[in-house]
Amino acid sequence: MDINKYSPKYRIRQTDLLRLADLTTEEIFEFLYVARALKKRFRVGENKPLLRGRTIGLLFGNASTRTRVSFEMGIRQLGGDYLFLPKNETQLSRGESIKDTAVMLGRYGISALVLRAFTMAEVEEFAHYSDIPVINGISDEAHPLQALSDLFTVWEQKGRLDNLKIAYIGDGNNVASSLIMGCAKVNMDVAIASPHGYSPSRSIVERGMQFGNVLITDDIAEAVHGADIVYTDVFISMNDDDDENKKRKLARYRVTPEVMALAKEDAVFMHCMPAHRGEEVSAEVIDGPQSIVYDQAENRLHINKAALTLLLDRRK
Ligand code: CP
Repeated sequence: MDINKYSPKYRIRQTDLLRLADLTTEEIFEFLYVARALKKRFRVGENKPLLRGRTIGLLFGNASTRTRVSFEMGIRQLGGDYLFLPKNETQLSRGESIKDTAVMLGRYGISALVLRAFTMAEVEEFAHYSDIPVINGISDEAHPLQALSDLFTVWEQKGRLDNLKIAYIGDGNNVASSLIMGCAKVNMDVAIASPHGYSPSRSIVERGMQFGNVLITDDIAEAVHGADIVYTDVFISMNDDDDENKKRKLARYRVTPEVMALAKEDAVFMHCMPAHRGEEVSAEVIDGPQSIVYDQAENRLHINKAALTLLLDRRK
């Protein structure tokens, strides 16, 4: 389906945003169209108070720059309020159950809950017990807001989504998994190049293959050949210890100017950040003319606002 021929309804069926596998192609397009509309308003300083009277809970279990700041600023821009809840300062860190926490947060008037750095099973448990929308702000298996921002960025930069090719180089982590599902559902070819043992999980790959072309390889050149987008992420992810063995195995999977030269001439470079120059990407690439990482990072703001307005609109 061509996003440019789609007529948005500014409405979705979902009550939560846990993973892209739950969304239809049309629902992915809805997020992107709403983000585009909100970004236009943001650019001209015309933010509507779409979240007035709403307080969003931000329950975070790890460090964050983009996710935290883009939610806090986005909520303010839409006239809402937020409660930042570091997990280690709640009773969750002392063994209180997810059920009790989820039910209580709704009773206190929280309108939606963003969870950061919980396992997918914990995110699902929150969603099961919450009366309010639950948004996955990163779990061990998925980073849906990141993948939606990435699709939005590609749409802006390339003018379309279908019949493009994205090559992801490096660790087959939560970001890679979400990209597989998101890109496959919008008819973008996905190629993942990872060393043996670091590919995305078989179940994610098989699910993605039901929707589109997904190639898993250990050959960087095969993945990058003909790519419109080259993407990477840090080698050490959410639940990894600083594993020297893993870094050694992934060292060859750095995106360098030589890797970029294997892609299409007008290919862009993307990274969800934070980035480690000299590790998964060389400085010449991330700081070079093909890099669109700051546009990509900015779009987290617009997608987060789209997620909140779409999920909360259902309950007005
Ligand atoms: N990409 C991303 O999730 O950034 P933060 O870790 O800074 O939130």
